[in-house]
Amino acid sequence: MEKLRLGVFISGGGTNLQSIIDSCKQTDFPARVAVVVSNKAGAYGLKRAEQAGIPAVCVPHKGFKTREEHEREIVKRIRPYNLEAVALAGYMRVVTGYLLDSFYNHERGLPGVINIHPADTNAYQGAHGYEFAMGMLAEHPRRLEETRITVHFVDKGVDTGAIIKQAPVPVLPEDTIDDLRARGLKVEHQVYPEVIRLYAEGKLKLEDRKVIIL
Ligand code: GRF
Repeated sequence: MEKLRLGVFISGGGTNLQSIIDSCKQTDFPARVAVVVSNKAGAYGLKRAEQAGIPAVCVPHKGFKTREEHEREIVKRIRPYNLEAVALAGYMRVVTGYLLDSFYNHERGLPGVINIHPADTNAYQGAHGYEFAMGMLAEHPRRLEETRITVHFVDKGVDTGAIIKQAPVPVLPEDTIDDLRARGLKVEHQVYPEVIRLYAEGKLKLEDRKVIIL
């Protein structure tokens, strides 16, 4: 079986990266992590890549004048891996059209960059999805009864791309933010590999910004 060549972009701990690496170890999993990219030198995810024997490229964004220049350097460095798709997994940078165009998957007729978000992207976009669900953000003080983990295609907006799959996670009355995050991450670690499998198996179609799972 020819496996989909996937790049995983991280900025931090990389528990989602780990779940993808672990899924890729299954012989019947249709993707493999060809390279890990980080914009943070100290990201623990880089260690995870090393432990798994996966090449890693670290390109700190500091020192680049624009986001696009930073992405150009990344794309140049990872060209040898000939990626077919990129999974953002806690990559804390807003990406530009340059990165999106660089990884558009012409063969599948699909965007090539996907992302995981801890909330319903229709309700909240940004870096604090679990805090949003807990009602901890000044602009969103209402605590939700559940959050919805969302995997979506990435477009030029922040968490605005077409939704591929969502999974509900209850917010319990006694939860602290750490409880909710721990429960949510467990679900993230299932859902992200599931979507990568669908992508790799050619089971996703995009019509009028709507994702169809074949
Ligand atoms: C996850 O909650 C993910 O949904 C969000 O950033 C976090 C990354 O966690 N985009 P990790 O680095 O994969 O542990």
